[in-house]
Amino acid sequence: MPRKLMAANWKMFKTWEEACQTARELVVAVRKDLPDDREVLLCPPFTALRGVSEMLSRQEGFYLGGQNFYPAEQGAFTGEINPDQLLDAGCTYALVGHSERRHVIGEKNGFLASKVAFGLKKGLKVILCIGETLEERKQGEVQSVLHRQLEQGLQHISSATSPEDLAVAYEPVWAIGTGETAGPPEIEHAHNLVRDKLKSILNQAEQIRILYGGSVKPDNTASIISLDNVDGVLVGGSSLSAEKFSQIVLA
Ligand code: 13P
Repeated sequence: MPRKLMAANWKMFKTWEEACQTARELVVAVRKDLPDDREVLLCPPFTALRGVSEMLSRQEGFYLGGQNFYPAEQGAFTGEINPDQLLDAGCTYALVGHSERRHVIGEKNGFLASKVAFGLKKGLKVILCIGETLEERKQGEVQSVLHRQLEQGLQHISSATSPEDLAVAYEPVWAIGTGETAGPPEIEHAHNLVRDKLKSILNQAEQIRILYGGSVKPDNTASIISLDNVDGVLVGGSSLSAEKFSQIVLA
Protein backbone atom coordinates (compact mmCIF):
# COMPACT_ATOMS: atom_id res chain seq x y z
CA MET A 1 0.00 0.00 0.00
CA PRO A 2 1.39 3.45 -0.87
CA ARG A 3 1.66 5.92 1.97
CA LYS A 4 -1.20 8.41 2.30
CA LEU A 5 -0.19 11.85 1.08
CA MET A 6 -1.39 14.72 3.29
CA ALA A 7 -0.77 17.79 1.14
CA ALA A 8 -1.04 21.50 1.86
CA ASN A 9 -1.51 24.03 -0.93
CA TRP A 10 -0.85 27.51 0.44
CA LYS A 11 -1.78 29.16 -2.86
CA MET A 12 -0.89 32.90 -2.87
CA PHE A 13 -0.79 33.22 0.91
CA LYS A 14 2.06 33.87 3.36
CA THR A 15 5.27 35.85 3.30
CA TRP A 16 8.60 34.05 3.61
CA GLU A 17 8.60 34.58 7.38
CA GLU A 18 4.98 33.44 7.84
CA ALA A 19 5.54 30.33 5.73
CA CYS A 20 8.67 29.36 7.68
CA GLN A 21 6.87 29.87 10.97
CA THR A 22 3.89 27.71 9.93
CA ALA A 23 6.21 24.98 8.64
CA ARG A 24 8.23 25.07 11.87
CA GLU A 25 5.09 24.82 14.04
CA LEU A 26 3.71 22.01 11.89
CA VAL A 27 6.87 19.92 12.13
CA VAL A 28 6.88 20.29 15.92
CA ALA A 29 3.19 19.39 16.18
CA VAL A 30 3.34 16.37 13.89
CA ARG A 31 6.78 14.77 13.76
CA LYS A 32 6.55 12.54 16.86
CA ASP A 33 3.14 11.15 15.94
CA LEU A 34 3.38 10.92 12.14
CA PRO A 35 2.39 7.33 11.30
CA ASP A 36 4.71 5.38 8.98
CA ASP A 37 1.95 5.10 6.41
CA ARG A 38 1.57 8.88 5.94
CA GLU A 39 3.67 11.59 4.41
CA VAL A 40 3.27 15.36 4.52
CA LEU A 41 3.68 17.68 1.55
CA LEU A 42 3.84 21.49 1.78
CA CYS A 43 3.37 23.62 -1.35
CA PRO A 44 4.16 27.21 -0.34
CA PRO A 45 4.45 30.14 -2.75
CA PHE A 46 7.69 30.16 -4.76
CA THR A 47 9.19 32.97 -2.68
CA ALA A 48 9.04 30.79 0.45
CA LEU A 49 10.24 27.48 -1.05
CA ARG A 50 13.85 27.80 0.04
CA GLY A 51 12.95 28.86 3.60
CA VAL A 52 10.38 26.11 4.07
CA SER A 53 12.84 23.62 2.58
CA GLU A 54 15.22 24.43 5.42
CA MET A 55 12.45 23.87 7.98
CA LEU A 56 11.72 20.43 6.49
CA SER A 57 15.29 19.28 5.94
CA ARG A 58 16.17 16.05 7.73
CA GLN A 59 12.51 15.62 8.78
CA GLU A 60 11.48 12.09 7.87
CA GLY A 61 8.20 12.00 5.94
CA PHE A 62 8.01 15.72 5.06
CA TYR A 63 8.27 16.92 1.46
CA LEU A 64 8.24 20.21 -0.42
CA GLY A 65 6.30 20.92 -3.61
CA GLY A 66 5.85 23.67 -6.17
CA GLN A 67 2.33 24.84 -7.06
CA ASN A 68 3.11 25.15 -10.76
CA PHE A 69 5.93 25.27 -13.32
CA TYR A 70 6.48 25.98 -17.01
CA PRO A 71 7.32 23.07 -19.33
CA ALA A 72 10.65 24.26 -20.73
CA GLU A 73 14.31 23.92 -19.74
CA GLN A 74 14.89 27.66 -19.48
CA GLY A 75 14.44 30.74 -21.65
CA ALA A 76 12.51 33.92 -22.19
CA PHE A 77 9.37 33.06 -20.19
CA THR A 78 8.91 36.09 -17.99
CA GLY A 79 7.26 35.31 -14.69
CA GLU A 80 7.57 31.54 -15.02
CA ILE A 81 9.64 28.95 -13.16
CA ASN A 82 11.10 25.67 -14.47
CA PRO A 83 11.35 22.20 -12.90
CA ASP A 84 15.11 22.51 -12.31
CA GLN A 85 14.51 25.68 -10.33
CA LEU A 86 11.91 23.88 -8.19
CA LEU A 87 14.28 20.95 -7.62
CA ASP A 88 17.06 23.40 -6.79
CA ALA A 89 14.82 25.02 -4.16
CA GLY A 90 14.29 21.64 -2.50
CA CYS A 91 11.08 20.43 -4.14
CA THR A 92 10.26 16.79 -4.67
CA TYR A 93 6.70 17.31 -5.95
CA ALA A 94 4.78 19.77 -8.11
CA LEU A 95 1.09 20.38 -8.72
CA VAL A 96 -0.13 20.57 -12.32
CA GLY A 97 -3.50 21.83 -13.49
CA HIS A 98 -4.92 23.04 -10.20
CA SER A 99 -8.48 24.27 -10.64
CA GLU A 100 -7.34 27.88 -10.24
CA ARG A 101 -4.75 27.43 -13.00
CA ARG A 102 -7.44 25.96 -15.25
CA HIS A 103 -10.27 28.37 -14.48
CA VAL A 104 -8.57 31.63 -13.43
CA ILE A 105 -5.40 31.51 -15.55
CA GLY A 106 -7.01 29.56 -18.41
CA GLU A 107 -4.66 26.58 -18.76
CA LYS A 108 -5.96 23.86 -21.07
CA ASN A 109 -5.55 20.06 -21.04
CA GLY A 110 -3.06 20.08 -23.94
CA PHE A 111 -0.73 22.49 -22.17
CA LEU A 112 -1.13 20.61 -18.88
CA ALA A 113 -0.18 17.37 -20.67
CA SER A 114 3.14 18.97 -21.66
CA LYS A 115 3.71 19.96 -18.06
CA VAL A 116 3.00 16.47 -16.71
CA ALA A 117 5.39 14.85 -19.18
CA PHE A 118 8.10 17.49 -18.80
CA GLY A 119 7.92 17.55 -15.00
CA LEU A 120 8.29 13.75 -14.84
CA LYS A 121 11.16 13.84 -17.31
CA LYS A 122 12.96 16.37 -15.13
CA GLY A 123 12.55 14.24 -12.01
CA LEU A 124 9.65 15.88 -10.21
CA LYS A 125 6.82 13.82 -8.77
CA VAL A 126 3.74 15.27 -10.44
CA ILE A 127 0.25 15.66 -8.96
CA LEU A 128 -2.27 16.21 -11.75
CA CYS A 129 -5.36 18.03 -10.42
CA ILE A 130 -8.72 17.36 -12.03
CA GLY A 131 -12.37 18.05 -11.21
CA GLU A 132 -15.71 19.11 -12.59
CA THR A 133 -17.50 22.45 -12.19
CA LEU A 134 -20.95 22.66 -10.58
CA GLU A 135 -22.48 23.21 -14.01
CA GLU A 136 -20.82 20.07 -15.37
CA ARG A 137 -22.03 18.07 -12.36
CA LYS A 138 -25.60 19.34 -12.86
CA GLN A 139 -25.41 18.31 -16.52
CA GLY A 140 -24.40 14.77 -15.51
CA GLU A 141 -20.94 15.18 -16.99
CA VAL A 142 -18.75 14.12 -14.07
CA GLN A 143 -17.51 10.96 -15.75
CA SER A 144 -16.88 12.52 -19.14
CA VAL A 145 -15.03 15.49 -17.61
CA LEU A 146 -12.78 13.34 -15.42
CA HIS A 147 -12.08 10.92 -18.27
CA ARG A 148 -11.21 13.75 -20.63
CA GLN A 149 -8.94 15.49 -18.12
CA LEU A 150 -7.08 12.22 -17.44
CA GLU A 151 -6.88 11.05 -21.06
CA GLN A 152 -5.63 14.40 -22.30
CA GLY A 153 -3.53 15.33 -19.27
CA LEU A 154 -1.65 12.01 -19.34
CA GLN A 155 -1.45 11.69 -23.14
CA HIS A 156 2.33 12.17 -23.37
CA ILE A 157 3.48 9.87 -20.59
CA SER A 158 4.57 6.25 -20.77
CA SER A 159 2.20 3.54 -19.56
CA ALA A 160 5.20 2.30 -17.54
CA THR A 161 5.37 5.51 -15.47
CA SER A 162 6.30 4.64 -11.90
CA PRO A 163 3.32 5.00 -9.55
CA GLU A 164 5.60 6.75 -7.08
CA ASP A 165 6.12 9.59 -9.53
CA LEU A 166 2.51 10.41 -10.36
CA ALA A 167 -0.57 11.19 -8.29
CA VAL A 168 -3.99 12.54 -9.20
CA ALA A 169 -5.92 15.02 -7.05
CA TYR A 170 -9.69 15.00 -7.51
CA GLU A 171 -10.88 18.47 -6.55
CA PRO A 172 -14.46 19.25 -7.55
CA VAL A 173 -14.38 22.94 -8.44
CA TRP A 174 -17.61 23.63 -6.53
CA ALA A 175 -16.06 22.32 -3.29
CA ILE A 176 -12.90 24.44 -3.39
CA GLY A 177 -12.88 27.24 -0.85
CA THR A 178 -16.66 27.14 -0.55
CA GLY A 179 -17.05 25.19 2.70
CA GLU A 180 -18.98 22.61 0.68
CA THR A 181 -17.43 19.18 0.74
CA ALA A 182 -18.41 16.40 -1.59
CA GLY A 183 -20.14 13.71 0.47
CA PRO A 184 -18.60 10.25 0.89
CA PRO A 185 -20.72 8.71 -1.93
CA GLU A 186 -19.73 11.48 -4.35
CA ILE A 187 -16.07 11.18 -3.43
CA GLU A 188 -16.07 7.39 -3.71
CA HIS A 189 -17.89 7.50 -7.01
CA ALA A 190 -15.44 9.99 -8.50
CA HIS A 191 -12.37 8.21 -7.13
CA ASN A 192 -13.58 4.88 -8.53
CA LEU A 193 -14.04 6.53 -11.93
CA VAL A 194 -10.51 7.91 -11.72
CA ARG A 195 -9.04 4.54 -10.69
CA ASP A 196 -10.77 2.72 -13.53
CA LYS A 197 -9.65 5.28 -16.07
CA LEU A 198 -6.07 5.17 -14.78
CA LYS A 199 -6.12 1.38 -15.26
CA SER A 200 -6.77 1.89 -18.95
CA ILE A 201 -3.81 4.29 -19.23
CA LEU A 202 -1.09 3.00 -16.87
CA ASN A 203 0.35 -0.41 -16.04
CA GLN A 204 0.50 0.08 -12.28
CA ALA A 205 -2.63 2.16 -11.82
CA GLU A 206 -3.60 0.35 -8.60
CA GLN A 207 -0.61 1.98 -6.90
CA ILE A 208 -1.22 5.55 -8.12
CA ARG A 209 -2.35 7.77 -5.28
CA ILE A 210 -5.65 9.59 -5.73
CA LEU A 211 -6.07 12.55 -3.36
CA TYR A 212 -9.29 14.34 -2.53
CA GLY A 213 -9.40 18.14 -2.24
CA GLY A 214 -12.17 20.64 -1.54
CA SER A 215 -12.99 22.06 1.90
CA VAL A 216 -11.09 19.36 3.78
CA LYS A 217 -11.08 20.25 7.48
CA PRO A 218 -9.93 18.64 10.73
CA ASP A 219 -13.41 17.29 11.43
CA ASN A 220 -14.08 15.68 8.03
CA THR A 221 -10.62 14.27 7.24
CA ALA A 222 -10.94 10.92 9.01
CA SER A 223 -14.13 10.01 7.19
CA ILE A 224 -12.71 11.09 3.81
CA ILE A 225 -9.35 9.39 4.17
CA SER A 226 -10.95 6.07 5.09
CA LEU A 227 -12.93 5.84 1.84
CA ASP A 228 -12.01 3.36 -0.89
CA ASN A 229 -9.50 4.71 -3.37
CA VAL A 230 -8.75 7.82 -1.29
CA ASP A 231 -4.98 7.89 -0.80
CA GLY A 232 -4.57 11.36 0.66
CA VAL A 233 -5.93 14.88 0.75
CA LEU A 234 -5.00 18.21 -0.84
CA VAL A 235 -5.91 21.03 1.50
CA GLY A 236 -6.18 24.77 0.88
CA GLY A 237 -7.70 27.02 3.55
CA SER A 238 -7.35 24.65 6.50
CA SER A 239 -3.68 24.06 5.74
CA LEU A 240 -2.75 27.69 6.41
CA SER A 241 -2.88 27.11 10.15
CA ALA A 242 -0.32 24.70 11.61
CA GLU A 243 -2.78 23.76 14.34
CA LYS A 244 -5.55 22.82 11.90
CA PHE A 245 -3.31 21.15 9.37
CA SER A 246 -1.57 19.08 12.04
CA GLN A 247 -4.99 17.75 13.08
CA ILE A 248 -5.69 16.89 9.45
CA VAL A 249 -2.33 15.15 9.02
CA LEU A 250 -2.92 13.03 12.13
CA ALA A 251 -6.67 12.49 11.70
P1 13P B 1 -9.85 24.45 0.11
O1 13P B 1 -9.32 23.38 1.05
O2 13P B 1 -9.63 25.84 0.63
O3 13P B 1 -11.24 24.18 -0.32
O4 13P B 1 -8.93 24.38 -1.21
C1 13P B 1 -8.76 23.16 -1.83
C2 13P B 1 -7.68 23.30 -2.81
O5 13P B 1 -7.82 24.00 -3.80
C3 13P B 1 -6.40 22.61 -2.56
O6 13P B 1 -5.59 22.62 -3.68
